[in-house]
Amino acid sequence: MTRFSSFSRPLRTAVVGASGGIGGAFVELLVSDAAVESVHVFSRRPLPAGNKLFRGRIDYDEEASIAEAAAMVKEGGPLDLVLVATGLLHDGAALQPEKSFRSLDAGNLTRSFQINAVGPGLIAKHFLPLLARDRKAVFAALSARVGSISDNHLGGWYGYRATKAALNMMIRCMAIETGRNRKQAFCVGLHPGTVDSRLSQPFQGGVAQDKLFTPAIAASHLLAVVDGLTTGDSGKLFAWDGKEIPF
Ligand SMILES: NC(=O)c1ccc[n+]([C@@H]2O[C@H](COP(=O)([O-])OP(=O)(O)OC[C@H]3O[C@@H](n4cnc5c(N)ncnc54)[C@H](OP(=O)(O)O)[C@@H]3O)[C@@H](O)[C@H]2O)c1
Repeated sequence: MTRFSSFSRPLRTAVVGASGGIGGAFVELLVSDAAVESVHVFSRRPLPAGNKLFRGRIDYDEEASIAEAAAMVKEGGPLDLVLVATGLLHDGAALQPEKSFRSLDAGNLTRSFQINAVGPGLIAKHFLPLLARDRKAVFAALSARVGSISDNHLGGWYGYRATKAALNMMIRCMAIETGRNRKQAFCVGLHPGTVDSRLSQPFQGGVAQDKLFTPAIAASHLLAVVDGLTTGDSGKLFAWDGKEIPF
């Protein structure tokens, strides 16, 4: 069984943030997919080994770790799919989503930008050149609906929203640049819905049970979106149900 009907087979794939809730679920689905030949998984933490799995370390605070990871992946040939599943919303008591401009803190904003925008940008720098040129290939980064400026009617979460908006803009730039000479390459942002993970755990209180996805369901939705990408979709942000979210 395969989730990749629109890709050439076999697929070579990479998941950055494989230790996360959604990243880990991506890895499980990719490993069990008959059309997938290899899954390169990256994290700051040690990851389990397994069939088709190639492990490496990426820490966004060290660009050299990203360059080394890309060099390792390049040895095996071009990539069909890169999934960036990293992100930061909170980190202990000191870094929490801001309810007011009064809470803005330069250190926290810088940290959020580093992980939510700069890091995925550096992944693109080192991994976009590895995308296959002669067939459909996708670079997809986990963004968030709250990063849509036109969809922001509630305010709050200044840093997270701003960093995801910055990521969305980078994805649009990457799509334009990549599209000039790789007509079958896609660069997209993905919104997974609200997913039961470390990132969302403190904020699940008001979420109805049927609106809270398991990481496995979320990953399954997002791979269906990736498989459904077609001409004109590059540079956009898509929700888990395949609907475009306007920037
Ligand atoms: N969960 C939701 O409801 C939800 C909703 C909308 C959007 N999203 C987005 O979906 C993505 C995945 O979220 P998740 O729920 O799976 O979160 P998660 O379980 O907290 O996973 C976050 C991942 O980011 C990695 N990461 C954090 N800092 C890093 C750094 N400095 N360098 C390299 N990797 C780093 C973590 O690695 P370590 O294990 O090394 O810390 C982990 O793999 C994020 O972009 C998030 O914004 C999630």
